[in-house]
Amino acid sequence: EDIPVITIDGPTASGKGTLADVVAHELGYIVLDSGALYRATGLAARRAGVELDEAEAVAAIAAKLDLHFAKGRVWLGDEDITDALREEASGLAASQVAAHAPVRAALNQLQLDFRCLPGLVADGRDMGSMVFPDAPLKVFLTASAATRAERRHKQLISKGIPANIAGLREDLEARDARDKGRTASPLQAAADARRLDNSAQTIEESRDLVLSWWAEAR
Ligand code: C5P
Repeated sequence: EDIPVITIDGPTASGKGTLADVVAHELGYIVLDSGALYRATGLAARRAGVELDEAEAVAAIAAKLDLHFAKGRVWLGDEDITDALREEASGLAASQVAAHAPVRAALNQLQLDFRCLPGLVADGRDMGSMVFPDAPLKVFLTASAATRAERRHKQLISKGIPANIAGLREDLEARDARDKGRTASPLQAAADARRLDNSAQTIEESRDLVLSWWAEAR
């Protein structure tokens, strides 16, 4: 396809969402936060009383997800689930349902549908490796575990959510291990991805680097 797409993959709390937002803002592109689809699937499954380890039952929920993105909020049916999605428990539930191949298959088309003009910035774990393999620019974003735990901690505290850095670091390392170790679309850099470690970078520095790569790639 000719519709431009930039993929940004990487581990938990590496700053993918923020980077995707600022890059998309500069280019006037839309953003796909694919993690939100897995988080919403976990939430919808729990609401329906479906066990997260039942691959087919969860996939049926994913296939019928009544999800809407509007004005920076996420809606499941007529419920605003934006805040619920950001909770650590939602991230953990997401990584459980995301390990099932049928769930990933059910969400594939939904993700492809985000690709529209003038362009898309897609963030997740397998955007470059599986969902948009033809993307002209693939970024694999990393940061040290300590940096990621600190950032997540700051984020939660600023929202008035109590959190502890050591516990957060354990949670994100457990989630990364599950995301890397699964057989269905494990977290890994696409062979043609550009690696970016942003541990010591400001968001503006990362943004400008990605924009310069994009100018070369397209
Ligand atoms: O990025 P975020 O923290 O919202 O993702 C939550 C979980 O969803 C991840 O830990 C991962 O297991 C799963 N995920 C995935 N593939 C994606 C995006 C997210 O497996 N493209």
